[in-house]
Amino acid sequence: MDTPFSTLIRVASHEQHTEAETSTFMSDLLGGRLAVDAFTRYTEQLWFVYRALEDAAGTLREDPVAGPFIQPELFRTAELERDLRHLRGADWRDGVQALPATAAYAARVEECARTWPAGYVAHHYTRYLGDLSGGQIIRDKAERTWGFERKGDGVRFYVFEQIANPAAFKRGYRELLDQVNANDLEKQRIIDECKRAFDFNGAVFRELGQAYAPDSRGPLIA
Ligand code: HEM
Repeated sequence: MDTPFSTLIRVASHEQHTEAETSTFMSDLLGGRLAVDAFTRYTEQLWFVYRALEDAAGTLREDPVAGPFIQPELFRTAELERDLRHLRGADWRDGVQALPATAAYAARVEECARTWPAGYVAHHYTRYLGDLSGGQIIRDKAERTWGFERKGDGVRFYVFEQIANPAAFKRGYRELLDQVNANDLEKQRIIDECKRAFDFNGAVFRELGQAYAPDSRGPLIA
């Protein structure tokens, strides 16, 4: 295989990436058409996903396949918790609920972490490289739409304080992908799992899109 793995996985997920970007929920969110409650509910969903990703980090650190990807400067759980405290108040944990699609997504991440570290790499890539890229567009939009302090509480999830140069970090990350400790068949399975990770994200957006419509003050369905 001559094409670098980082290129293969990017190209394979390109179409689904466009679908995610143009999903009703994301379009409405980026178009400034939703109330802050929709953004909060989305942030809550991310919390479940990142807890699954990061609860597994300790055990995967020494893993020959997933280990090199575990980099504490990427961790987002603490930032999400700070954002949620700001968005929902000190007792935010009492009301936080995973949508069915989110629960399925987090369960799959946990399953990969436990049984198939290469599959975990697919989920790691799909979330963290996306957050370092398009996440910045979402942050900018959220700050303007709902008046969060620039890079402050509410949008800290999108701010990687310990990554001074995201472009360089992404280059390094792609090198890790290119060197992943997996044969061609396993690499194909990672690509398939990446597509599944995009499907999970699409399903979460669909459920959020059903719950929140433009100009609604809150959820249309509980
Ligand atoms: C409206 C929402 C989104 C926008 C505006 C957006 C935008 C972008 C942009 C501009 C890049 C290219 C950055 C670069 O080449 O360095 C990118 C890359 C990426 N995005 Fe998104 N994105 C969005 C949603 C998502 C979602 C929902 C996911 C998956 C959960 C995702 C996953 C990724 C990944 C994995 C990459 C890295 C591709 C690679 O270079 O290998 N994005 N995104």
